[in-house]
Amino acid sequence: MTHRFRSNLVIAAIICAAFVVLQLPRYAMAQSAAPTPPMGWNSWNHFHRTIDDKTVRAQADAMVSSGMRDAGYIYVNIDDTWEGERDAQGNIQTNSKFPDMKALADYVHGKGLKLGIYSSPGAKTCAGFEGSLGHEDQDAATYASWGIDYLKYDLCGLRTEMKAAPTPEAAHKIMVDAYVKMHNALVKTGRPILYSLCQYGNDAVWRWGTEVGGNTWRTTGDINDHYARMEEIGFGQAGLAKFAGPGHWNDPDMLEVGNGGMTTEEYRMHMSLWAILAAPLLAGNDLTTMTPETISLLTNHEVIAVDQDRLGQQGDRVSAEGPIEIWAKPLADGSKAVGVFNRHPTAISATVDFKPLGFRKPVQVRDIWQAKDLGKMQEPYTVLVPPHGVVFLRVK
Ligand code: GLA
Repeated sequence: MTHRFRSNLVIAAIICAAFVVLQLPRYAMAQSAAPTPPMGWNSWNHFHRTIDDKTVRAQADAMVSSGMRDAGYIYVNIDDTWEGERDAQGNIQTNSKFPDMKALADYVHGKGLKLGIYSSPGAKTCAGFEGSLGHEDQDAATYASWGIDYLKYDLCGLRTEMKAAPTPEAAHKIMVDAYVKMHNALVKTGRPILYSLCQYGNDAVWRWGTEVGGNTWRTTGDINDHYARMEEIGFGQAGLAKFAGPGHWNDPDMLEVGNGGMTTEEYRMHMSLWAILAAPLLAGNDLTTMTPETISLLTNHEVIAVDQDRLGQQGDRVSAEGPIEIWAKPLADGSKAVGVFNRHPTAISATVDFKPLGFRKPVQVRDIWQAKDLGKMQEPYTVLVPPHGVVFLRVK
């Protein structure tokens, strides 16, 4: 080995080591921020622009008194419309709906909960409020000083810059650079802040969301409180499982459970499908006026255990026969959560064959929503699935 060759090797090794060290915080942070899909509440689906300090406090109170916190719902997330103007130094201010964000964070933290906030990489947010463009470091530092634990970063306003780009590749780069920029700004604060990307699944974000530091990324446009939209989004997630895992999750958007636009069976389908998808579980209803039924849908611990399973493997579609779809999610203890979904508006009898699900020997089957052990099964299981409903099983 010549001297020159040896010193080149040493330089290469130093560059590699520096790269690893520089990249480590990014991945360490991603892993520690969301080892399982984040759970909490977000203001947008129910309150839209009317969210304010008083309402957020009331939601935090209800999160505790309803048992949601103890079921695992921890983040209280303020969506768009909290933003005010910037001061003379360019620091973002809250508007009059949020008189003191630090005091609000203290209040939420005092309840054993965490506080999330919202911004855009563009000059304006979707609702036309102040975005973070050109103020990324400053905004991240402000969030950290307030005690923020979660940032939803919503593309919206940046589309103006992207539209002006000469090619789709250039537009893509503008978006990716913007997401990296805020990620780096968050890391610089030294505060663990969960980073939630929201750009509606464009440019197959699941392929690069982790690279830009995302802990979650929306895979679709907005959900609403109608069965057709929930169904379209939920079943449209087939094939994305391999892109999710501890620290980085596909996000098919927030829950509508309890908002009133779907039947109980439809909400049961919504919860079950989101759990199989290892989706973030962000309730989107008014937690202060929940019926006991809504509370039991949101807090069913066996459903939450599927979503939060420590293996962190997203489930996927196993079969589809007309309106009957079977989806399965492998779990850490070797069992599988199996959803038998009926997308038809009348009840349909469906048969689950356990062999294609990977089980050769007789299986132990439990009906999750009924909280009932169905015993040992050797033969395929035939069951009547309610209209727009689900039979949710845990199979071992
Ligand atoms: C976009 C997002 C929604 C919500 C609104 C707020 O539509 O996808 O989830 O944050 O903006 O303006």
